[in-house]
Amino acid sequence: MNQPLLELRDVSRTYARDRRRRGQADEVHAARRVSLTIAAGETLALVGESGAGKSTIGQIVLGLQTPDTGEVHFDGANVTHLRGRARRRLRRRMQLILQDPYQSLHPGMRVDEAVAEPLAIAGVARDERHARVVDALDDVGLTPAERFLRRHPHELSGGQRQRVAMARAFVVRPSLVVADEPTSMLDASLRGEILALMASMGGRAGMSTLLITHDLAAARILADRVAVMRAGEIVEHGPIDRVLAAPAHHYTRVLLAASEGRLLEEDP
Ligand SMILES: Nc1ncnc2c1ncn2[C@@H]1O[C@H](COP(=O)(O)OP(=O)(O)OP(=O)(O)O)[C@@H](O)[C@H]1O
Ligand SMILES: [Mg+2]
Repeated sequence: MNQPLLELRDVSRTYARDRRRRGQADEVHAARRVSLTIAAGETLALVGESGAGKSTIGQIVLGLQTPDTGEVHFDGANVTHLRGRARRRLRRRMQLILQDPYQSLHPGMRVDEAVAEPLAIAGVARDERHARVVDALDDVGLTPAERFLRRHPHELSGGQRQRVAMARAFVVRPSLVVADEPTSMLDASLRGEILALMASMGGRAGMSTLLITHDLAAARILADRVAVMRAGEIVEHGPIDRVLAAPAHHYTRVLLAASEGRLLEEDP
């Protein structure tokens, strides 16, 4: 098998729980011995209910959290404890797309500045940046780009803001994108558009995506494989078509039923 782009090996992470909440254990196991891989060009969906530990995994992948135990490998190198310049160099190969584009777009920054910023950080020469920004806006359907360059986030619709956030992520041609609930603040029609856009961008650039979502429909559209997470553990993983057609774990069936508006008991 080809070497995966990203590999998590037995990654665990606990957080101290608020002591004032009585009668509960004082540790939260946000991730318990999580192992997963993402190949180059592949999209892995990480699905599960709120609090399952999905964002924790995303943060560990991006190096924003360090696992208590276990290892993170990227491009064949153990990057679990990278620091300083080496960490920053690695971070440039990864981008994050968040649920709320207001979190990733500074309100005082114009669109052209926001999309150029990661290029500047990546060391792209100033006179090259403008053309790259225009291309990136075209790629995400903000055309003609000239109409959007000078706007501020509050002068855009929600869907346009999410497109700018995506342009900002894709403009540096990252190897890996972590998309944490990228569509859950959008209404149904916009959701479809943004998912289609993510699908086309992923295919075009040959990049890998970790798609964090509780939306199995989004996973079905975008993902090659899926990992189902519950209470910090991966309870099932496999090719998306197989898992959705014939879920092996009861919890996957619960999620599936919920996404279809049916109700299934958590514990049979
Ligand atoms: N920095 C933190 N400090 C303490 N506890 C945390 C921290 N981050 C996450 N947790 C806890 O770890 C568990 C997993 O959280 P996480 O945000 O990874 O879940 P999630 O699957 O992304 O949930 P959601 O779908 O609501 O975003 C939760 O119980 C959460 O309260
Ligand atoms: Mg989350």
